[in-house]
Amino acid sequence: MKKISLLCLCLLSLRAEDFISEFEYGQMLYRNPRGVSCVPCHGDTGEGKEIVSYKNDKGERIVISGPDIRTASLAQIRESVQESRGVMPRYFLTDKEIRTIHAYLQKVNADNNVSSDDS
Ligand code: HEC
Repeated sequence: MKKISLLCLCLLSLRAEDFISEFEYGQMLYRNPRGVSCVPCHGDTGEGKEIVSYKNDKGERIVISGPDIRTASLAQIRESVQESRGVMPRYFLTDKEIRTIHAYLQKVNADNNVSSDDS
């Protein structure tokens, strides 16, 4: 009985942030939002990435890449994940999840000294 009340006291003193910060949650979402990660197409921190390349019938090398989204605005991210226009898949993320991914990209790139003029 004494052990149980001690355990309860310990649990009470823990706050959500002790388990995972908003930054870590955003990083997790960016890496694995409903199964299809942003990373293979936009890179670890949104810097952009070559997805695939091939040679066309004229022998020219065609490269398809995910653009740099380090300074993408919340509105751009929202629009891109909600409407698929080309290569990028459509996601069914909540507004909070989209905001958290945006906040992650802002924070990780502020730490990497990438300037952004919108928020
Ligand atoms: C399969 C590859 C792929 C995945 C996965 C992907 N994207 Fe994209 N994304 C693209 C491509 C390619 C574009 C350029 C427009 C197009 O072709 O759809 C793009 C465009 C964007 C843009 C607009 C950039 C601009 O300059 O207009 C944003 C913002 C974006 N993606 C965010 C994300 C986020 C956030 C995720 C994860 C939740 C994600 N993307 C997952 C390939 C991908």
